[in-house]
Amino acid sequence: MSMKLYSSLTKKYIMSLAGLFLLMFLLVHLTINLLLLFDDSGGLFNVAAHFMGTNPIIQAFQWVLFGGFAIHMLIGVILQIQNWMARPKRYNKRAISEESYFSKFMIHTGIIIFIFLVIHLTDFFVKKIGGVVPEITGGELAGMENMGILVVEKFKNGGYVLFYVTVFLILGFHLDHAFQSAFQSLGLNNNKYTPFIKWLSHFIAIVISIGFITIPVCIYFFK
Ligand code: HEM
Repeated sequence: MSMKLYSSLTKKYIMSLAGLFLLMFLLVHLTINLLLLFDDSGGLFNVAAHFMGTNPIIQAFQWVLFGGFAIHMLIGVILQIQNWMARPKRYNKRAISEESYFSKFMIHTGIIIFIFLVIHLTDFFVKKIGGVVPEITGGELAGMENMGILVVEKFKNGGYVLFYVTVFLILGFHLDHAFQSAFQSLGLNNNKYTPFIKWLSHFIAIVISIGFITIPVCIYFFK
């Protein structure tokens, strides 16, 4: 029993570390993507994307990132299955009702984000690996991959924009619970700081969700 408890706490610990690492990635990714909005030629974004796509350190890091996603998702699924299997034996209604509303949906929001990732990577990352991204013609950046134009083309499609916006709202709900839960799992939930962690959680979730949403919406309406 204690062995099982210990191993599930260890899993939560690792999952939380991987999750916080993914959060760092999201902040970097968001910052680079926002360049698309602040520069009409798309040059800034393309230079940043080119740097991220060619710098050897970042290239190596990409595998750490994919590993982080894999570990986070794998442990999430295992914990959820263990939780489902344990449920009939547990009649602790109070504990369940104390869970925040969205915490019950982490696996569902997680699966939606995973489906989004598969589509997202197919649309951009796989195209880059496959060498089918159009090149910039003319100017100082001639010959460089024009990832920006690929993004803008995608976001001229209303259905695609709606899909992205929906997923980003769901991502916000996922992060809102994930962040406070990570602090819990890492044993950093000193009662004194709980209100602050909760506040920070909402803040990060809103910044990331709204931040990502502005990109397809602004491109659709203003580019
Ligand atoms: C408006 C929102 C977004 C835009 C415009 C966008 C755009 C892009 C582009 C253009 C690439 C290819 C970069 C390259 O390889 O040169 C990429 C890669 C990637 N995106 Fe996004 N993305 C968005 C949101 C997200 C979100 C919310 C996630 C995670 C939940 C995500 C996860 C990834 C991952 C894992 C990669 C592959 C790693 C990398 O190339 O850095 N993206 N994205």
